[in-house]
Amino acid sequence: MTFLFNSDATRGAIFAEAFARELPDVPFSLDPVTVDPEAVRYLITWTVPENLARYRNLEILFSIGAGVDQFRIDAVPAHVKVVRMVEDGIVRMMQEYVALAVLSLHRDLPAYLNQQRLRSWQAIAPVQASERRIGVLGLGMLGTSVLERLKPFGFPLSGWSRSPREIGDVRCLSGRDGLDTLLRSTDILVCLLPLTDETRCLLSATLFAQLPARAALVHVGRGPQLDHQALLEALDSGHLSGAVIDVTDPEPLPPDHPFWIHSKILLTPHIASVTQPESAAAAVIENIKRFRAGLDPVGLVDRHRGY
Ligand code: GLV
Repeated sequence: MTFLFNSDATRGAIFAEAFARELPDVPFSLDPVTVDPEAVRYLITWTVPENLARYRNLEILFSIGAGVDQFRIDAVPAHVKVVRMVEDGIVRMMQEYVALAVLSLHRDLPAYLNQQRLRSWQAIAPVQASERRIGVLGLGMLGTSVLERLKPFGFPLSGWSRSPREIGDVRCLSGRDGLDTLLRSTDILVCLLPLTDETRCLLSATLFAQLPARAALVHVGRGPQLDHQALLEALDSGHLSGAVIDVTDPEPLPPDHPFWIHSKILLTPHIASVTQPESAAAAVIENIKRFRAGLDPVGLVDRHRGY
């Protein structure tokens, strides 16, 4: 019942140590070449290996990242459980990044960075946090945790998910009507949705038109959810006031892409949140223990929903 780690050796060494300590009866391998494929019960990877079928006794396929959109889940045998990475390190980094992005937009950081370059000492009229409505798309572990972290600032908080949720002090909306309501009343929109057929190109001209004038975007979902041209047009017409973008399609962006130098865009190279090996190893070990106790792993993917 071997655990096969198919990713970089540095993180692998940290996983190996945690497994030796916490799950000594599960053999650990970092090498798909020398491992006995029939012994592999658990596999952690970023993309599904071409030769997945050789792991005939595979029981759980773990993603090393928060998403599973890079897997072609249809190619994974139906009896294999697919599990997203849900771990404290990813959650904490996403909380930090979204707080950074929301506060940057709230306090006009993109405009002040431009003014600095122009040696212009000018105050922009501030908006109180109580007047700045934040809307988070996606209320999974990340969306919920981000909203918790934003609470102390005093922004009116709303969140949207496909199916109804309840979070204290957050207006929770769901379904198509709920999305329309959220968009009409959001000044800073945060996208934390998984990539599915339904969310591909969701951040479009139509969606931007539903936001109030001068609204802003934080995009930390997946690149293919954003129509780049629509964002540029919304920013250039002045309808949207700014955007913090961490994910794009393609990644990396080509050198001549307009996002690099746009004065209303803060761009980062998909670093908002990264799996932290120590806490990730603990989360995976805990999940294997749950699975062996007959419980569903945390982060189990519903193949029908796609996340
Ligand atoms: C990063 O985007 C991840 O999926 O962990």
